[in-house]
Amino acid sequence: MTIKSEPLTEHTGSEIFVDREALISGALSPAIRELLVQRGVIIARGLHLTDDEQRAFTRTMGDLRLGTVKQEGEEGLQKVTFDEKVNPDYAKFFFGSLLWHMDGTYEEVPPFATILTPRVLSATGGQTEFTSNYATYEALPDDEKAWLDTLKVVHTMQAALFPGKPDCTVEEFALWHSYPNREHPLVWHHKTGRKSLVLSTSGSHVVGMHPAESHDLLQRLMAHATQPRFVYRHEWQMGDLLIWDNTGTMHRAMPYPADSGRQLHRFTLNGEEPVRGVA
Ligand code: OGA
Ligand code: MN
Repeated sequence: MTIKSEPLTEHTGSEIFVDREALISGALSPAIRELLVQRGVIIARGLHLTDDEQRAFTRTMGDLRLGTVKQEGEEGLQKVTFDEKVNPDYAKFFFGSLLWHMDGTYEEVPPFATILTPRVLSATGGQTEFTSNYATYEALPDDEKAWLDTLKVVHTMQAALFPGKPDCTVEEFALWHSYPNREHPLVWHHKTGRKSLVLSTSGSHVVGMHPAESHDLLQRLMAHATQPRFVYRHEWQMGDLLIWDNTGTMHRAMPYPADSGRQLHRFTLNGEEPVRGVA
């Protein structure tokens, strides 16, 4: 099965043109998965999926993350919003989405993919940007690639969140600090044989490196990976469906007013392989 698609930028993102019923049925999912890992981000416009349709489609793409089901009909649904009344458990963490990141870097097996639809959009801001960790790895000089292969990075929640809220309280910092740290290789050797950077604001430091040198390396790689030539910026429209490969991209939300009501409905696919470095 092939699907009609068009690249959105040179390195990151493709738009697909699909029949709504065929999409929900899962008939296109093998082809969509293949394109997803090549292009990092897949979008389709004008679909207007309900939560149930979005969940049904997600299930055809892989292993739906269930989390704790709070309300009937909301199995696996995460509401991405700054509004604590709408999402009491997680709204307080979403300011971190404004910084370039991968999701779940403190897990041994980070989530494979995320499937988003907009429910309320902000009148200003609130676009979502993506960069390909495959393309930005590929663009590095060969001798640097070989060196990066030897490095490991510790990812922490406080590294991910503090830069987004430097005026946090001591209690907030303690909460972030209570989450486990995770060490990952800086270069992911995927089971497909392809390689990508494991880069995210959550990267606290390179194991065994002088702190100043480690800081400079992670900042320099972040500047490299987020150059406009690698970035796709998604301008949301109602009806959109957006999927990103969390194992091969970074993403961030552009700032939007906290009282805008912006709300995206999100389903997550569990990861399928741990981050492995050079054998
Ligand atoms: C997320 C996220 C970005 C956005 O859901 O993990 O980072 O644009 N969302 O809200
Ligand atoms: Mn995120």
